[in-house]
Amino acid sequence: MVEKAAAPRIPAVRRALLRAARALTTPLLPDDYIALLDPRWSTREATGTVVRARRETDEAVTLVVRPTHGWPGHRPGQYLRIGAEIDGIRHWRAYSITSDPEHPEGLVAVTVKEVEEGKMSPFFTRDCPPGTIVFLGAVEGEFALPQPLPPKALMISAGSGITPIFSMLRELERRDALQDVVHLHGTRTAEGFIFGGMLRDLAERHEGYRLHEQLSAQDGRLKTTHLDDLVPDWRERETFMSGPREMIDAFVEHWEGEGIADRLHTERFQPIIGDGSAEVGSGGTVRFRVTDKEATCESGVSILVGGEEAGATLPYGCRMGICHTCVGRLRVGRVRDLRSGEVHGEEGETIRTCVNAPEGHVEIEL
Ligand code: FES
Repeated sequence: MVEKAAAPRIPAVRRALLRAARALTTPLLPDDYIALLDPRWSTREATGTVVRARRETDEAVTLVVRPTHGWPGHRPGQYLRIGAEIDGIRHWRAYSITSDPEHPEGLVAVTVKEVEEGKMSPFFTRDCPPGTIVFLGAVEGEFALPQPLPPKALMISAGSGITPIFSMLRELERRDALQDVVHLHGTRTAEGFIFGGMLRDLAERHEGYRLHEQLSAQDGRLKTTHLDDLVPDWRERETFMSGPREMIDAFVEHWEGEGIADRLHTERFQPIIGDGSAEVGSGGTVRFRVTDKEATCESGVSILVGGEEAGATLPYGCRMGICHTCVGRLRVGRVRDLRSGEVHGEEGETIRTCVNAPEGHVEIEL
């Protein structure tokens, strides 16, 4: 597995001691021994211990984690790659961070909604009791509150898309900046609304925060046609949106039609792959060296999809370029990033198979 956790922040004295120990253990590193005993002692990989698993709804759980070496910080709206070993294999998935960036005990939380056919979410929601050790990747993502904060904001979320929006709302409350925020949230039922209780309570406490719950099981999904009724001044608001891709696409088109696309900030968690906006290239053939399979990928078809269609068993997590679970080492050829159209890749480079297509013949260590 190529994917690794972020580098932990180690105090200077400890770092100096480790440097000295390195001389005694060469050619291996002290870390190679101590991480075998307990991954939390690793000085090369950031880890954490689950201290609480709090059930939010029937399907969603918040994992509260104590990072081993201190938390590097995050901006509300960003996400964290989190890894766990399941049946001896390390898997990764990215989740929005839902804890306060200035948590007094230095704890960090992510909220996970169970996806039945998923690998990671059933583990995190059912089999992750306090004491479980997890691996922590880098904090990533550009979806965050701007500085200075906007005077009037609109939040639009649906389903588990609530997680980065919740984080932003918490931040606005902490900074006493909930003066004029309208929040439209789509959820199938009121009971399935992750953080519903906390957000209803927030609306009770703050006149400047207005929450509308759109219950799709009885009233249909949230649509752009609801905007004029629910938020007559929506065009004037800085808008932050997170939810299913089709919903975001519809809203983006609506904002574009009004010529105010720069006021809409979105978190897709699903990049647009091969939608015609980027050059999709010629496609090509892929040889998977480990599984000894060959695949042909048409123009615009990712290596992951092409490989699966050819019967190869390949690792994957998010299938959208976020979690890095699908990486393999490129041995021959060049690939095209389906999000940007850019052709790249050198011999030995690790590439994400879910967002890259072969450009000609490719051989990959998978
Ligand atoms: S499967 Fe997550 S980055 Fe490819």
